Amino acid sequence: MTSLQLNQPVISGGSRSYSREAWQKGYRSLPQEYDYWIDEIEGQIPPDLHGTLFRNGPGLLEVNEQRIHHPFDGDGMICSIAFQNGRAHFRNRFVQTQGFLEEKQAGKILYRGVFGTQKPGGWLANLFDSRLKNIANTHVIYWGGKLLALWEAAEPHRLDPATLDTWGLDYLDGVLQPGSAFAAHPRIDPACELDDGKPCLVNFSIKPGLSTTITIYELNSAGRVVRQHAHAVPGFAFIHDFAITPNYCIFFQAPMSFNPLPYVLGWRSAGQCLQFLSQRPTQAIVIPRHGSDPVQIIPIEAGFVFHHANAFEQDGFLYVDSIGYASLSSVEPEQDYREVNFEAIDPGQLWRFQFDLNTGKLVQRQLIESRCCEFPAMHPDRVGRSYRYAFMGAAHNPEGNAPLQAILKLDMETGERHLWSAAPHGFVSEPIFVPRSTHPDAAEDDGWLLTLVFNGEKERSDVVILDARDLNLVARLHLKHHVPYGLHGSFTNQCFIS
Ligand code: CO
Repeated sequence: MTSLQLNQPVISGGSRSYSREAWQKGYRSLPQEYDYWIDEIEGQIPPDLHGTLFRNGPGLLEVNEQRIHHPFDGDGMICSIAFQNGRAHFRNRFVQTQGFLEEKQAGKILYRGVFGTQKPGGWLANLFDSRLKNIANTHVIYWGGKLLALWEAAEPHRLDPATLDTWGLDYLDGVLQPGSAFAAHPRIDPACELDDGKPCLVNFSIKPGLSTTITIYELNSAGRVVRQHAHAVPGFAFIHDFAITPNYCIFFQAPMSFNPLPYVLGWRSAGQCLQFLSQRPTQAIVIPRHGSDPVQIIPIEAGFVFHHANAFEQDGFLYVDSIGYASLSSVEPEQDYREVNFEAIDPGQLWRFQFDLNTGKLVQRQLIESRCCEFPAMHPDRVGRSYRYAFMGAAHNPEGNAPLQAILKLDMETGERHLWSAAPHGFVSEPIFVPRSTHPDAAEDDGWLLTLVFNGEKERSDVVILDARDLNLVARLHLKHHVPYGLHGSFTNQCFIS
């Protein structure tokens, strides 16, 4: 049986659940850096919620009044919210990347962005300039004693977990070369057989070209790279995320073409030279994590995936749950991202893909959540394993494409859904699931969901704590300011407050 339990306002009339003006305000820069104990709290912070939530995302949406073309080009800003004894401490700092410091000093944009930001001066100023600015704005993880800010096209930046000071580029003890890519979507295998059942971090890098090289890195819990292997796959690939199981890494290669000429000539950014080819299939690339089995490439229906929820092996099949889009619209040079017509764009929806690796075929593709959704999350111990609960950011209304204003919980076993909505004024970010206990008998949904919610009426953000069992509001922590819409983050049970 499918049921939906609503925890928040029902907005009547089938109308929009938000105002565009309110939504746009979440794309204001936050140039100030803060450091304070949060004292404006509704509800109570659970005393057993202990640790640090780190978040990353673009903090600057312009450089000295010159707007960047797309938020994906914005300089990375880290927020940390540290929970201790029922209290919470907030801090935010910009990652002091070389490009950030240079542009701050120059007071103008010096680098072209991947998603359309151009240096001032027209195409002539941008001609033949392919220098990349490592903007460190996509994800932040604490692993092996290091806090790393990630951006998929270049090396990680290492930060001080307590002060968020930038220590510099991190080459993983010499494994990465200067300029090496390192993806922004590591997955943590909670119990890796090759590491005596200890957790290991799996990540990848993409070197695109006529054929694409995918390199897999596995880091043990001390942060050392213990396994590394590279694979060439045919064709150009624009891959942001992947999924893992104990035996496989799974990538979805969407049908894209890349025509570098307008980029080289300074007319368009690299991201604007990508084209989605809807007539061609997407390819699932299945790479064994160990052993010598060959890489399998399996065609599936066309579509684009930014994020996978999870993957698992069961009864001889491989399952992959992913947020799929029917198509990917191009980033146009003239277009203002804040004026996007949500209704004209395909929503992200959660799909389950079932593969038979013996025949090398897709068995079926099933829509498991039709509501517009993004940023899937789950219990960290279920990564790569069969799981019951998926959590995600979602639209307030069940149909159509819209900004994420709600948190959705999906019970895969019963089809039951819970929705906590921040509409009409609130806009949510990625939820992070934090287990209440490490006890092996604890229920898979026994924990909290942490998310930052931007309030477009008050122009401030809240840290929201939900009970993951019923999505009831546990506490709302009012920040003194807003936080621009962010990308990804993670939770560590170590509490960092300097
Ligand atoms: Co992502």
